[in-house]
Amino acid sequence: MTQDKTTTESRQDARLEPVRKLTGHYRPPTDKSIAHRALILAALAKGRSTVAPITRSEDVAATARCLRQLGVTINESPDGWIVESPGVNGWTAPERGLDCGNSGTTMRLLAGCLVGRPFASTLIGDDSLSRRPMRRIAEPLRLMGAEIDLAKGDTAPIRITGIVLDGVEYTLPVPSAQVKSAILLAGLSAQGETVITERIVSRDHTERMLDAAGVDCVIEYPPRAGDRREAMLASGAAEAVKADYQRLIRLGERREVQPHDWVLPGDFSAAAFFIAAAVGVKKSDLIVADVGLNPKRTGFLKVLKRMGVDYETTHRENSGGEPRGRIRIAAFADLKATKVGAAEIPTLIDELPILAVLAARAEGVTVIRGAEELRHKESDRIAAVAANLRAMGAKVAELEDGWAIEGPTEWHAATIDPQGDHRIAMAFSIAALWADGPSVIRNAGIVRVSDPEFFAALTALTH
Ligand code: S3P
Repeated sequence: MTQDKTTTESRQDARLEPVRKLTGHYRPPTDKSIAHRALILAALAKGRSTVAPITRSEDVAATARCLRQLGVTINESPDGWIVESPGVNGWTAPERGLDCGNSGTTMRLLAGCLVGRPFASTLIGDDSLSRRPMRRIAEPLRLMGAEIDLAKGDTAPIRITGIVLDGVEYTLPVPSAQVKSAILLAGLSAQGETVITERIVSRDHTERMLDAAGVDCVIEYPPRAGDRREAMLASGAAEAVKADYQRLIRLGERREVQPHDWVLPGDFSAAAFFIAAAVGVKKSDLIVADVGLNPKRTGFLKVLKRMGVDYETTHRENSGGEPRGRIRIAAFADLKATKVGAAEIPTLIDELPILAVLAARAEGVTVIRGAEELRHKESDRIAAVAANLRAMGAKVAELEDGWAIEGPTEWHAATIDPQGDHRIAMAFSIAALWADGPSVIRNAGIVRVSDPEFFAALTALTH
């Protein structure tokens, strides 16, 4: 595959040829979701923390840039970032707006940190981020006493006026780790207790990492009235019980974040594109090394298993509260259609574009529902996936909250419009590997938001 230019401008197009083979070791970039949190927790703590390995993701760079504007020193060393912070109580008022770029995680998590500060601040973002919904964080934070002003009642710029916060008891109306994290981070400096209830469990990095940083962050699974908890427990179906029950997150007495040396796993969401490539390219043998295996992130693997894919995971260790290991995938698979519903969606939310691509290879109709959140990502991912799948010859019905995709597809090379969305660009770069000729991904440089090395890694593994 070639790229027309080697600059990292998003305007650059990528031209991808079909390939015959995909083999080798892939080491994903440091997990983006976890890296944001590690930098933020290091900045909240008073003293010196380290965060390693460094990722070149632009989203994470946006978090680091904003934290520096708040008076936190973040330096790069060969071993990772070195963060020296006066602690959250020593943060200083930013002179300009805090620019979160394209990163929803930066904006929503920092909003949670800033509402309790004794100074005013403004969070701004690029065009895509400035269209994304922010009332979802403003509402619970206002219940805590925060003063937040949103553009058009729902979008960035977010203007925050410093205030003393109360705790809150809040049930998340949408399963969103970003909203949950914003409330937890605000709860750290609130006067009363903060308790969050989730009906559908989203990624739990913030909870795990707060615990690793010395904060009392307690998880409870209270039974719901009239439920089948005892029977299910008796049958040993502990995971099923957890999935079927409300999950409570309670911030206890100890709420001061301690400095920590964070050693972060590779990004499963980046690896998912390469795993999908190994599933779809006929001769493949891929080892994904040192990747995060948090079960609340790896729903994609479970769905692949249902679709008939064979893989092996080896759990190596936990660090910073996060499980990690390796995945070996050595099978080109004839895929079967499957169904994916609301309860599973948060465990594979960022993998849905690439899952939809694989669904178009599968025999039968794959139905993915309960994913309306995709309409609020970096693009309207439901529409973007449907349009680009059709351009490549797939049969897809766009539903309000997902897709019905009928495969197998006779894949045609196409020109792909990723609509300014890194995950759409990457998902269709993978589909291009098995098209009937060279495809073009427009403005492919957008991959730098999460994985600037994406095309180089793909080139190194494919033949
Ligand atoms: C993220 C949570 C998810 C995910 C996003 C990163 C996070 O968003 O799509 O890429 O780091 O908390 P929601 O929690 O809003 O669904």
